[in-house]
Amino acid sequence: MAKAKTTYVCSNCGAQSAKWVGKCTVCGEWNTFEEEVLRESKTSSGKIIRKTQSKPQKINEITYEKEQRLDTGSIEFNRVLGGGLVSGSIVLIGGEPGIGKSTLMLQVALQLPKEKVLYVSGEESLQQIKLRGERISGVNADTLILSETRMEQILATAEEIEPDILVIDSIQTMFTERVESSPGSVSQIRECATDIMRYAKENNVPVILIGHITKDGSLAGPKVLEHIVDTVLQFEGDRNHVYRILRSTKNRFGSTSELGIFEMQNTGLREVSNPSELLLSHRDEAMSGVSVSAGIEGARPFLIEVQALVSTAAYGAPQRASTGFDTRRLNMLLAVLEKRAGFRLATKDVFLNIAGGLKVNDPGIDLAVLCSVLSSDLDIALPSDVCFAGEVGLSGEIRPVQRIDQRVKEAEKLGFKKIYISKYNKKSSDFSKLKIQVLGAGKVSEVFRIIFKED
Ligand code: TYD
Ligand code: MG
Repeated sequence: MAKAKTTYVCSNCGAQSAKWVGKCTVCGEWNTFEEEVLRESKTSSGKIIRKTQSKPQKINEITYEKEQRLDTGSIEFNRVLGGGLVSGSIVLIGGEPGIGKSTLMLQVALQLPKEKVLYVSGEESLQQIKLRGERISGVNADTLILSETRMEQILATAEEIEPDILVIDSIQTMFTERVESSPGSVSQIRECATDIMRYAKENNVPVILIGHITKDGSLAGPKVLEHIVDTVLQFEGDRNHVYRILRSTKNRFGSTSELGIFEMQNTGLREVSNPSELLLSHRDEAMSGVSVSAGIEGARPFLIEVQALVSTAAYGAPQRASTGFDTRRLNMLLAVLEKRAGFRLATKDVFLNIAGGLKVNDPGIDLAVLCSVLSSDLDIALPSDVCFAGEVGLSGEIRPVQRIDQRVKEAEKLGFKKIYISKYNKKSSDFSKLKIQVLGAGKVSEVFRIIFKED
C-alpha cells in the first residue's frame, strides 16, 4: 500500500508547506494554500528511462545545429512562434473559455499536410471533436484523436504511435496516478507538465498544451507551469466580436512582440493578413466623434478607429467610460484637454470605444483619442483621409512614438492623405518620398487649431 502524505501547496507559485499558512512566504500572495494528498508509489510506473547519458561539457566545445522548425501551415501561428514549432519544445496556449483555443489547435492539426498529429482531449468526446473538425476545412487523414485524461496512458500511447506533434487539450483536465489530488490542482498540473516535458525532450516531439485562465486573466495553475514550458501564448479577444489575437508572453525561440490575428467564422478561424482593413469600419460619410490612429500592436502596424461620444451629463456626476482603452488614461487626457486647450468637459459624459473589440496598449493612440473626443464635443466630423499617431504628455505636448516609419507607411498604404505626428518624429525621419502628407506638431492645441479651424 502506498503511503499517503498531506502537504499544502501555494496555487500561485507552487511553494510547499507542511502546514497551512495564510500568506505564502515565497510569493507573498494571501490565501493561496491548498491541501493536497501525495501518494509516493513504490512502482516506477511514471518514470521514463533516460535514453541519453548526460555529462558536463566545456562551453567552447558545445556544438549546436540551428533548431529545427516545423512549419504549422498557418502564417499567423508561425509568426507568433517565431517561424514554426521547434522540435522538442513545449508551447502553452491560454485563453478564456470559448475563445477558440481548441478550434485553433484542431485546425492546425487538420491543416498540416503530412505530419502525424496526436490530439488528446480531456474535455470533449471523439464525436464532438469530429463534429468540430467537419466545420473546419482541410482534413489531414493522419490526425489521430484520443479522448483521455490519464497522463500515463497518454504518454504510453504517444511513445507507441510516435506522433510528429502532440496536442493536449487541456493541461487542467489531465491527471497522473502518482498524485492523489483532483485534476487541475497545483501538484497535478506540475507533475503532468513535468512528465510532458520529459517526453518532449527525450523524443524530440513538439507539444502544445492548452491551458485555462483564471478570472483575472492569468494562466490557471502554478507559475512553475510557465517556467517549465518554452513558449507561452495568449489567445484573446472579445467573445462578442469576431477578431482574435494570438500573442506570445514568453518565447525561448523567438520575439514576444509578434502578433497573430484571426477572425472566427462559421468554418473555423480565418487568418487576417491585413488587419487594418478590417478594423476600420466602412463608412460612406464622415461622422463626428470618429478618428483613426496609426497604431502598433506588438511589432505590427494597425490602423485603429477610435469612436467617442460626448454629451451633457444628465444625472449629476458625469460618466467616463471606455472599452478597449484604459479609463484612467482617458481621464488624464481629458484633464489635459481642459487645462492645456481650454475645453470645458467637466459637466459632460464621455464615452470612448475602440472599434473591433480590440484592447489597445499603444500610447501612440492618445492624439486620436483627443481628436475624437473634441470632434464629438464640437460636432465637427474629421476628414476621413486624416489619421494620427502621437502620445500626449501632461503639458499637452505631442511626444514621439516608436516605429513611426511603419505607422506612416501603413497609413499611406490604406489611402490616407494626411497624418499628424510629433514634430520630433518628423525631424528624425525622411518622409519626403511618400505620397501621404506628414504634419509634425509640438502641442495638441496646434493640431486642434488646424483640424477644427479655431483660433
Ligand atoms: P473553442 O475552440 O471550443 O474554445 P475554447 O477551446 O477556447 O474553449 O471555441 C468555441 C467557440 O467558437 C464556440 O462558441 C463556437 C465558435 N466556433 C465558430 O464560431 N466557428 C467554428 O467553425 C467553430 C469550430 C467554433
Ligand atoms: Mg476547448
